Amino acid sequence: MTPVRVWAGLLCLKIDDIWYTNITQIVFLKLGTMTDIILGMGEVGETIFNLLVEKNFDCVGIDIDVSKCKNYSENRVIENPEYLHICLSGELGEFTDIILNWINKIDGLQAVLVHSTVKPGTTKHIQEKSKTPVLYSPVRGVHKRFLEDIKKYTKFISSDDKQLDPKIKKNLEKRFEKIDWMSTTKTAELAKILVDTTYYGWLINYAQITKMICEKEGIDFDEMWKFSDEIQEFLGNRPKMFPGVIGGHCVIPNLDLIDYEELKTISNVNELFKNSKKS
Ligand SMILES: NC(=O)c1ccc[n+]([C@@H]2O[C@H](COP(=O)([O-])OP(=O)(O)OC[C@H]3O[C@@H](n4cnc5c(N)ncnc54)[C@H](O)[C@@H]3O)[C@@H](O)[C@H]2O)c1
Repeated sequence: MTPVRVWAGLLCLKIDDIWYTNITQIVFLKLGTMTDIILGMGEVGETIFNLLVEKNFDCVGIDIDVSKCKNYSENRVIENPEYLHICLSGELGEFTDIILNWINKIDGLQAVLVHSTVKPGTTKHIQEKSKTPVLYSPVRGVHKRFLEDIKKYTKFISSDDKQLDPKIKKNLEKRFEKIDWMSTTKTAELAKILVDTTYYGWLINYAQITKMICEKEGIDFDEMWKFSDEIQEFLGNRPKMFPGVIGGHCVIPNLDLIDYEELKTISNVNELFKNSKKS
């Protein structure tokens, strides 16, 4: 090899080295900045966004109300999307279509995690229309201390895919403080409604009923309920609830997501109680 060719070879090697280094850096940089996307930046979405940012994940927040979007503008391509978190209202008529549109729009998503409270069966229905894994994970907590609550409660996650990629499982587990898994998405969807908000409504109903009876009979509600205090203390199964009208945007609206006659009593009793306050 002539000295010129050797030099030329070394130069190529050098250029190749630089080129390789740059490519590695780019690949590394790209791998280092995977993005979680939060769709619906309301009370839940903003809290999930803040939680993930606290844990050093890069996040983009998308909302129909542009003032709520974070690190996002309409024509911006989302770099290295990894997980899509759904925090829209589950009562939206076009809920499934909105999600499917976004799944199709974002290239390279690893999985979708639905946090919204939904009609049981919704997650499976979305999954049937998409190749990207769709999981369900209900939210617990109250708005004024949401971030604290989301960290305090175990975040249940569910998938209907028994062969779900363990890497996805592991990655999602890194995003929350405490995780537990449920075996089907419908179990978790029903858990949110039946064991959380509806159960709460059912317990309040009993306080409403007993309050209405006390008023009719001229009896002091709190004095009567003193009788349950020790049973509650010893057995834990006679909680005294406050007899107020059930308002807010959880208990009563969530009843519309299920279709069970037995549970319609909850809104009926609530209406009865509300009317009794007017008269
Ligand atoms: N807030 C709570 O206390 C709470 C607790 C547990 C579960 N949940 C459930 O979580 C879900 C979200 O609740 P939330 O309180 O955050 O609701 P929210 O109304 O505060 O937020 C929903 C957000 O979605 C946005 N949005 C609506 N349509 C959109 C679209 N097409 N594209 C993008 N964004 C759109 C709205 O502008 C809004 O900012 C609901 O299913 C709710 O039942 C709420």
